[in-house]
Amino acid sequence: MAKHDKVEVGLSTILNPVPVVMVSSAGKNPESESERPNIMTVAWAGTINSEPPMLSISVRKSRHSHKLISETGEFVVNLVSKSLCKACDYCGVRGGDKEDKFKSCSLTPVKAKGLKYAYAIKEAPVSISCKVKSVQELGSHDMFIAEIVGITADTYLLDDKGKLCLDNARLVAYNHGEYYLLGEKLGFFGYSVAPEDIIKKRMGKESKGKKK
Ligand SMILES: Cc1cc2nc3c(=O)[nH]c(=O)nc-3n(C[C@H](O)[C@H](O)[C@H](O)COP(=O)(O)O)c2cc1C
Repeated sequence: MAKHDKVEVGLSTILNPVPVVMVSSAGKNPESESERPNIMTVAWAGTINSEPPMLSISVRKSRHSHKLISETGEFVVNLVSKSLCKACDYCGVRGGDKEDKFKSCSLTPVKAKGLKYAYAIKEAPVSISCKVKSVQELGSHDMFIAEIVGITADTYLLDDKGKLCLDNARLVAYNHGEYYLLGEKLGFFGYSVAPEDIIKKRMGKESKGKKK
């Protein structure tokens, strides 16, 4: 058989790779056990609009986080670096109704930029504060469509000119049930038509952000 001969495979959520993120939220009374700051893992997440910046996450009704997000209309999408990968997986297999996942994973809840109730994860390289605009019931999952109202990033990710260098964040992607560290840069937006000197400049040099 030749490499590109085709075989039909079963219908499934096969779109890969996808981001995997840690979604943090809290109820209106964070002192109570049932509304304390919580973290869940989400792979069904994506950017859906540029102006205003918007994203969506799809969450099953059975998740404790679903209740918290529905109550406040707020959540934070925390990007996952290599050092957070194990905690990310853990937060995807344990329920926040039964345990404090911030404590279990030795993570620190910090008030999220631009939000009243939700907490961000201090140890995350980038935290994206979101306000829910609408909820779409799709079937197994409810899709929370949200506007991004604030973003914080670790200072080591900024270069001398204040540009965010996400290539230094050692981010993790999710591919068909497995976590992968992003590593090899293959190109950049428009590189297929860029002049040689630009390609040399963008591909030759290390990013200017400080390594961590
Ligand atoms: C890699 C990974 C991706 C996941 N993606 C989703 C998702 O997109 N939506 C969802 O509802 N649950 C997803 N889950 C499952 C939840 O994270 C899991 O049920 C978690 O325990 C829910 O926490 P909570 O009950 O404290 O909200 C995922 C789990 C893992 C490990």
